[in-house]
Amino acid sequence: MPDVNGLRAAAREARKHAYAPYSKFTVGAAIETTDGRRFTGANVENASYGLSICAERTAAFAAVLAGARIAAVAVSGPDGVTTPPCGACRQVLAEFAAPDAPLSYACADGDWIDTTIGDLLPAAFDPNALEAARGIA
Ligand code: THU
Repeated sequence: MPDVNGLRAAAREARKHAYAPYSKFTVGAAIETTDGRRFTGANVENASYGLSICAERTAAFAAVLAGARIAAVAVSGPDGVTTPPCGACRQVLAEFAAPDAPLSYACADGDWIDTTIGDLLPAAFDPNALEAARGIA
């Protein structure tokens, strides 16, 4: 079972490393991998705004670059703000996680909302969909 509390704490800690001078909206993410490792990420913005990248994706790419796959995720934003992953991050997380992989995100009331990758992105266009499409091409 994933260490959800540890993952939440790691996401909060990772948020301190965000580079968000434009939005001032700092986000941290932590991933537990299927082989039991932990990777963290934070959002990194750019003066060319569109090049900014979310916390979830920096964490996911760190895990993938280390040869890992995603077992569980936690996301933490500014205090008092509910911070669910954006649509782009849902798609990227779904590429590397099973639909039943748990994801916990910080809620405005200081509590956490627990969901899964599959609930956040139902009917995902995932690697299986692509494989099925190849079959008919
Ligand atoms: N952001 C994240 O890092 N994760 C999310 O799930 C939502 C948004 C970042 C992107 C941008 O740097 C800032 O928050 C404001 O959108």
